[in-house]
Amino acid sequence: MNQVLEAIKTRRSIRAFKKEPVEEEKIEAILEAARWAPSGKNTQPWRLVVVQSPEKRAQLGRLVTQLDMIRNAPLTIAVLLDTQAGYDTTKDLQAIGACAQNILLAAHALGLGACWIGRVRDEEVEKVLGAREHEQLMMLIPIGYPAESPPPKPRRPLAELVRRI
Ligand SMILES: Cc1cc2nc3c(=O)[nH]c(=O)nc-3n(C[C@H](O)[C@H](O)[C@H](O)COP(=O)(O)O)c2cc1C
Repeated sequence: MNQVLEAIKTRRSIRAFKKEPVEEEKIEAILEAARWAPSGKNTQPWRLVVVQSPEKRAQLGRLVTQLDMIRNAPLTIAVLLDTQAGYDTTKDLQAIGACAQNILLAAHALGLGACWIGRVRDEEVEKVLGAREHEQLMMLIPIGYPAESPPPKPRRPLAELVRRI
Protein backbone atom coordinates (compact mmCIF):
# COMPACT_ATOMS: atom_id res chain seq x y z
CA MET A 1 0.00 0.00 0.00
CA ASN A 2 1.12 3.59 -0.52
CA GLN A 3 3.12 4.77 2.52
CA VAL A 4 0.94 7.78 3.27
CA LEU A 5 -2.24 5.71 3.10
CA GLU A 6 -0.60 3.04 5.22
CA ALA A 7 0.40 5.65 7.83
CA ILE A 8 -3.13 7.09 7.92
CA LYS A 9 -4.58 3.64 8.54
CA THR A 10 -2.07 2.35 11.07
CA ARG A 11 -1.78 5.49 13.24
CA ARG A 12 -3.24 5.10 16.72
CA SER A 13 -3.56 7.49 19.62
CA ILE A 14 -0.70 6.51 21.93
CA ARG A 15 -1.07 7.40 25.60
CA ALA A 16 1.90 5.57 27.17
CA PHE A 17 5.49 6.39 26.30
CA LYS A 18 8.95 4.97 26.90
CA LYS A 19 11.47 7.14 28.71
CA GLU A 20 13.73 7.08 25.65
CA PRO A 21 14.32 10.62 24.33
CA VAL A 22 13.23 11.57 20.83
CA GLU A 23 16.07 12.41 18.45
CA GLU A 24 16.36 16.08 17.49
CA GLU A 25 16.14 15.23 13.75
CA LYS A 26 12.80 13.54 14.35
CA ILE A 27 11.49 16.56 16.27
CA GLU A 28 12.60 18.81 13.41
CA ALA A 29 10.90 16.51 10.87
CA ILE A 30 7.63 16.64 12.83
CA LEU A 31 7.77 20.44 13.07
CA GLU A 32 8.51 20.62 9.37
CA ALA A 33 5.46 18.46 8.63
CA ALA A 34 3.38 20.82 10.78
CA ARG A 35 4.71 23.80 8.83
CA TRP A 36 3.56 22.31 5.53
CA ALA A 37 -0.08 21.92 6.53
CA PRO A 38 -2.63 23.68 4.34
CA SER A 39 -4.37 26.83 5.59
CA GLY A 40 -6.99 29.19 4.20
CA LYS A 41 -5.31 31.95 2.17
CA ASN A 42 -2.06 30.33 3.33
CA THR A 43 -2.24 32.31 6.56
CA GLN A 44 -0.45 29.54 8.54
CA PRO A 45 -2.10 30.62 11.81
CA TRP A 46 -0.50 27.88 13.96
CA ARG A 47 2.23 28.56 16.46
CA LEU A 48 4.02 25.64 18.07
CA VAL A 49 5.55 25.41 21.52
CA VAL A 50 7.80 22.39 22.05
CA VAL A 51 7.80 21.44 25.71
CA GLN A 52 10.79 19.31 26.70
CA SER A 53 12.18 20.58 29.98
CA PRO A 54 11.30 18.41 33.00
CA GLU A 55 10.08 21.49 34.90
CA LYS A 56 7.64 22.59 32.22
CA ARG A 57 6.48 19.00 31.62
CA ALA A 58 5.76 18.66 35.33
CA GLN A 59 3.95 22.01 35.43
CA LEU A 60 1.83 21.05 32.42
CA GLY A 61 1.22 17.59 33.84
CA ARG A 62 -0.20 19.12 37.02
CA LEU A 63 -2.68 21.20 35.02
CA VAL A 64 -3.83 18.65 32.49
CA THR A 65 -6.14 15.84 33.59
CA GLN A 66 -4.22 13.16 31.78
CA LEU A 67 -1.25 13.98 33.93
CA ASP A 68 0.93 10.91 33.36
CA MET A 69 0.66 11.15 29.61
CA ILE A 70 2.15 14.64 29.55
CA ARG A 71 4.66 14.01 32.32
CA ASN A 72 5.94 10.76 30.83
CA ALA A 73 6.14 11.90 27.22
CA PRO A 74 9.64 13.17 26.41
CA LEU A 75 8.07 16.05 24.57
CA THR A 76 4.73 17.72 24.08
CA ILE A 77 3.90 20.03 21.22
CA ALA A 78 1.35 22.67 22.09
CA VAL A 79 -0.46 24.02 19.05
CA LEU A 80 -1.62 27.61 19.42
CA LEU A 81 -3.79 29.71 17.17
CA ASP A 82 -2.37 33.14 16.41
CA THR A 83 -5.57 35.14 16.18
CA GLN A 84 -3.70 38.01 14.50
CA ALA A 85 -2.52 35.71 11.72
CA GLY A 86 -5.87 34.17 10.84
CA TYR A 87 -8.75 35.68 8.87
CA ASP A 88 -11.84 33.57 9.50
CA THR A 89 -12.44 31.64 12.72
CA THR A 90 -13.85 28.51 11.11
CA LYS A 91 -11.15 28.34 8.47
CA ASP A 92 -8.41 29.11 10.96
CA LEU A 93 -9.61 26.27 13.18
CA GLN A 94 -9.72 23.94 10.20
CA ALA A 95 -6.11 24.85 9.40
CA ILE A 96 -5.11 24.12 12.99
CA GLY A 97 -6.72 20.68 12.65
CA ALA A 98 -4.73 20.01 9.48
CA CYS A 99 -1.55 21.05 11.28
CA ALA A 100 -2.30 18.72 14.20
CA GLN A 101 -3.02 15.80 11.89
CA ASN A 102 0.29 16.38 10.10
CA ILE A 103 2.04 16.22 13.48
CA LEU A 104 0.30 12.96 14.39
CA LEU A 105 1.06 11.35 11.05
CA ALA A 106 4.67 12.53 10.95
CA ALA A 107 5.24 11.18 14.46
CA HIS A 108 3.74 7.83 13.47
CA ALA A 109 5.75 7.67 10.24
CA LEU A 110 8.92 8.11 12.33
CA GLY A 111 8.07 5.24 14.66
CA LEU A 112 6.79 7.52 17.42
CA GLY A 113 3.45 7.65 19.16
CA ALA A 114 1.36 10.73 19.84
CA CYS A 115 -2.05 11.71 21.12
CA TRP A 116 -4.22 14.74 20.42
CA ILE A 117 -5.35 16.18 23.74
CA GLY A 118 -8.20 18.57 23.25
CA ARG A 119 -7.34 21.22 25.79
CA VAL A 120 -8.37 24.60 24.55
CA ARG A 121 -8.32 28.16 25.80
CA ASP A 122 -6.89 27.40 29.20
CA GLU A 123 -5.29 30.46 30.74
CA GLU A 124 -3.18 28.54 33.24
CA VAL A 125 -1.80 26.21 30.58
CA GLU A 126 -1.25 29.14 28.21
CA LYS A 127 0.74 30.87 30.97
CA VAL A 128 3.00 27.83 31.44
CA LEU A 129 3.51 27.74 27.66
CA GLY A 130 4.39 31.43 27.53
CA ALA A 131 1.59 32.06 25.02
CA ARG A 132 1.36 35.63 23.80
CA GLU A 133 -1.69 37.83 24.27
CA HIS A 134 -3.14 36.97 20.83
CA GLU A 135 -2.34 33.25 20.95
CA GLN A 136 -4.87 30.65 22.06
CA LEU A 137 -4.18 27.07 23.03
CA MET A 138 -5.79 24.63 20.60
CA MET A 139 -4.39 21.24 21.58
CA LEU A 140 -1.52 19.50 23.30
CA ILE A 141 0.23 16.62 21.55
CA PRO A 142 2.48 14.48 23.76
CA ILE A 143 4.98 12.51 21.66
CA GLY A 144 7.41 9.71 22.42
CA TYR A 145 8.33 6.14 21.63
CA PRO A 146 5.19 4.07 22.18
CA ALA A 147 4.99 1.89 25.28
CA GLU A 148 1.68 0.43 24.16
CA SER A 149 0.22 -0.90 20.97
CA PRO A 150 -3.52 -0.34 21.15
CA PRO A 151 -5.90 -2.05 18.75
CA PRO A 152 -7.64 0.11 16.18
CA LYS A 153 -10.67 2.01 17.40
CA PRO A 154 -13.74 1.12 15.32
CA ARG A 155 -14.71 3.37 12.45
CA ARG A 156 -18.17 3.74 11.00
CA PRO A 157 -18.61 1.99 7.66
CA LEU A 158 -18.37 4.18 4.57
CA ALA A 159 -21.98 3.36 3.74
CA GLU A 160 -23.00 5.26 6.89
CA LEU A 161 -20.76 8.23 6.19
CA VAL A 162 -20.88 8.79 2.47
CA ARG A 163 -23.62 9.78 0.11
CA ARG A 164 -22.90 9.81 -3.58
CA ILE A 165 -24.98 12.10 -5.70
C1 LIG B 1 -10.48 17.01 18.77
C2 LIG B 1 -9.89 15.80 19.47
C3 LIG B 1 -9.78 15.81 20.86
C4 LIG B 1 -9.23 14.73 21.52
N1 LIG B 1 -9.04 14.81 22.87
C5 LIG B 1 -8.47 13.78 23.52
C6 LIG B 1 -8.18 13.89 24.90
O1 LIG B 1 -8.42 14.93 25.54
N2 LIG B 1 -7.63 12.83 25.51
C7 LIG B 1 -7.31 11.68 24.83
O2 LIG B 1 -6.79 10.74 25.45
N3 LIG B 1 -7.55 11.53 23.50
C8 LIG B 1 -8.11 12.56 22.83
N4 LIG B 1 -8.32 12.48 21.48
C9 LIG B 1 -7.96 11.24 20.75
C10 LIG B 1 -9.22 10.44 20.40
O3 LIG B 1 -9.74 9.86 21.57
C11 LIG B 1 -8.87 9.38 19.35
O4 LIG B 1 -8.37 10.01 18.19
C12 LIG B 1 -10.08 8.52 18.96
O5 LIG B 1 -10.54 7.77 20.06
C13 LIG B 1 -9.73 7.53 17.83
O6 LIG B 1 -8.64 6.71 18.20
P1 LIG B 1 -7.32 6.67 17.30
O7 LIG B 1 -6.73 8.06 17.29
O8 LIG B 1 -6.41 5.68 17.99
O9 LIG B 1 -7.72 6.22 15.94
C14 LIG B 1 -8.83 13.57 20.79
C15 LIG B 1 -8.93 13.57 19.39
C16 LIG B 1 -9.43 14.68 18.73
C17 LIG B 1 -9.45 14.70 17.22
